[in-house]
Amino acid sequence: MKRVIALLALGALISGIAQAADAPTNFQTHCASCHGADRLGGFGPALLPENLERLRKPEALRVIREGRIATQMQGFADRLSPEEIQALAAYVYTPVSPAPKWDEADTKASRIVHHAPGSLPNKPIFQADPKNLFVVVEAGDHHVSVLDGDKLEPIGRSATRFALHGGPKYSPDGRYVYFGSRDGWVSKYDLWNLTTVVEVRAGINARNVAVSNDGKWVMVGNYLPQNLVLLDADLNFVRAIPTMAAAGGKTSRVSAVYDAAPRSSFVVAMKDTPEIWELSYAKGAPVNVARTVLDDILDDFYFDDSYANVFGATRPDGNGVGKGQVVNLNQRAKVADLDVPGMPHLGSGIAFDWQGKRVMATPNLKEGLITLIDTQTWRTVGSVRTLGPGFFLRSHEKSRYAFTDAMMSPTAKDTLIAIDKQTLEIAGQLRPVPGKTFAHVEFTRDGRYALASLMENDGALIIFDAQTLHEVKRLPMSKPIGKYNVWNKITRSEGTSH
Ligand code: HEC
Repeated sequence: MKRVIALLALGALISGIAQAADAPTNFQTHCASCHGADRLGGFGPALLPENLERLRKPEALRVIREGRIATQMQGFADRLSPEEIQALAAYVYTPVSPAPKWDEADTKASRIVHHAPGSLPNKPIFQADPKNLFVVVEAGDHHVSVLDGDKLEPIGRSATRFALHGGPKYSPDGRYVYFGSRDGWVSKYDLWNLTTVVEVRAGINARNVAVSNDGKWVMVGNYLPQNLVLLDADLNFVRAIPTMAAAGGKTSRVSAVYDAAPRSSFVVAMKDTPEIWELSYAKGAPVNVARTVLDDILDDFYFDDSYANVFGATRPDGNGVGKGQVVNLNQRAKVADLDVPGMPHLGSGIAFDWQGKRVMATPNLKEGLITLIDTQTWRTVGSVRTLGPGFFLRSHEKSRYAFTDAMMSPTAKDTLIAIDKQTLEIAGQLRPVPGKTFAHVEFTRDGRYALASLMENDGALIIFDAQTLHEVKRLPMSKPIGKYNVWNKITRSEGTSH
């Protein structure tokens, strides 16, 4: 009898394991309706390792077990065994082989027109200054809020695609804003009518979008497939450009695509090959690629005022140390090394005048340090010790102060500091909610107010007088990760990234 029970128990265990091992079947039964039979996403997000890069495995397990509150993602703990849930979590981090395709036909078929061009009113439906609006990306529940930058009040809130990636980009007149999402969706949003007008899926896993200075082109940088996708202003597919290395053979993921407005070109940072690409749109749709082939991979950039020189950081070496270098896009070659310790975050660099010099200042991902580099000589000319490794540095032409965070420091992630741009002294510390991540400043058009993010699900936008550093207002928001002022972006303010 004992033996029979033992055998039965063994049988149950074996069948449990057999079931748990069959994650693909469970996926088709329980998940495919929302996440797509091919895991490319549908009503729910894509579940591929590339797309889940920022989702930690324990969190994936928790989501499958318990669900996510206030979303359609329900927990499966009542229907699936812990082993089955474990197997499903492992399954979604397993690459699909061969890599899933996303081509011209897929892109064209995905396009959704919500409002045909010309069908919406040609002037704003609100009183606020359309050039002083802010778009606030709320990652907590995948929405954007639109703020009146004079009254500092929200005037609209809209749902977005899952997980916007890279900054939203404005059309040159500031009427439209383009969003790119993690899963490759590009959405064109009409700020004057506070609504999405057209969307298209340009890839499976995307990094960001750039909009040309003439407003005619939208370029999408993808991880999957490894390409660039060129769209027109109404998000019609124009062409896909595989990111084939100069040496041939292999393609690269795209780290980011930038609009180099004064050059009328898109500049592309590659993640896997030591190349910088430039595609000119001066004479119409970009076709030809001008390559700068380097010794090192540079995937995080700052452009100087002329946009002829790119300050790039190499990937950290074994000791976690990256190197900075200057690449001239006209000579298509490296022209100097930069002397920046730690790991500069050049993509967040800003420019200002200091002691008669034009300097760029960069935060550092590894050290509590801001480094000042003379943009003429490329020498390091100053530095500021901060509270800890930080991500963003922001200022405005009319502000005395530059603000930086210490997001990467467990003890100081809740504090922003204001640095006096002339004396390089720390003029103030802003720590509105102890223990809560506080970062990413953007100024109003006139530079009077600084808006910063309390990056929590029950977070807020906290607004400071940029002169007195006193808090003036708090607007509750759902994990507001970034905010973008129309004027500062379309005029390429020196105090913010573009
Ligand atoms: C009814 C639709 C639906 C079903 C069925 C469903 N999901 Fe989801 N799932 C979603 C939605 C919507 C989200 C996004 C939730 C949010 O906004 O954070 C999501 C999110 C997730 C995430 C987190 C993704 C990320 O990047 O944060 C994982 C992992 C996940 N689902 C796994 C599964 C698995 C495994 C199954 C099957 C056992 C499943 N889901 C079934 C709709 C669904």
